[in-house]
Amino acid sequence: MEPILAPSILAADFKNLGEQMHLCAKGGAKYIHFDVMDGMFVPNISFGMPVLASIRESEDLVMDVHLMIEKPQRYVESFRKAGADILNVHYEACKDLQGTLNQIHEAGMKAGITIKPQTPVEVLTPYLEQAELFLIMSVEPGLGGQAFIPESLGKIRRLKELLQERGREADLEVDGGIYLHNVREVLDAGANVIVSGSSVFRGDISENISQYMEIFKEYRKSRE
Ligand code: DX5
Ligand code: ZN
Repeated sequence: MEPILAPSILAADFKNLGEQMHLCAKGGAKYIHFDVMDGMFVPNISFGMPVLASIRESEDLVMDVHLMIEKPQRYVESFRKAGADILNVHYEACKDLQGTLNQIHEAGMKAGITIKPQTPVEVLTPYLEQAELFLIMSVEPGLGGQAFIPESLGKIRRLKELLQERGREADLEVDGGIYLHNVREVLDAGANVIVSGSSVFRGDISENISQYMEIFKEYRKSRE
């Protein structure tokens, strides 16, 4: 599957958000990763629906919303109205995961299931046909700028195998601690959606994205 860059705006400069998203789109990012934190599921609080609704209009990018919130089913409809295209819920945060996925689909969005670093990929087995995206956290959710947990690579490989065994073409997304120096390993392990906050928004955004695009190109070539 084609590699996709999903810049996480958690690391953006919020007073220039529109401009920075424009640079992301121009550079070739296809998704914007939108991290919602509620101060309960994770200790931090980030941003929510009004911010999503306002950036939604600015660029033609897929809004990939990562809900780090308790009982996300309470907010499915609100995030659809605000403009989410993909709604990712945490396996660990849902009492009724299947019901939540149904609700996301009924609202007309793609559904994503996210697992924390300590959660084994096998918990996803019953849901492989039930979501369009699977998100492996490669850091503890809640904070940008952390180091990539190396064990995540094995989890990506395992999940890719499980998907292939079933002939599933779902997005396999990885989030946390991805930089130019380790992104190739993440792609080689089987991921196709690459979330990055710090390594896109720190420094020169256009230059950072163009380096990601270069690595994606090399990766594609190596697969031909
Ligand atoms: C962490 C968030 C990530 C975060 C990634 O809880 O889910 O999306 O923004 O940031 P970096 O790329 O800096 O690790
Ligand atoms: Zn995230």
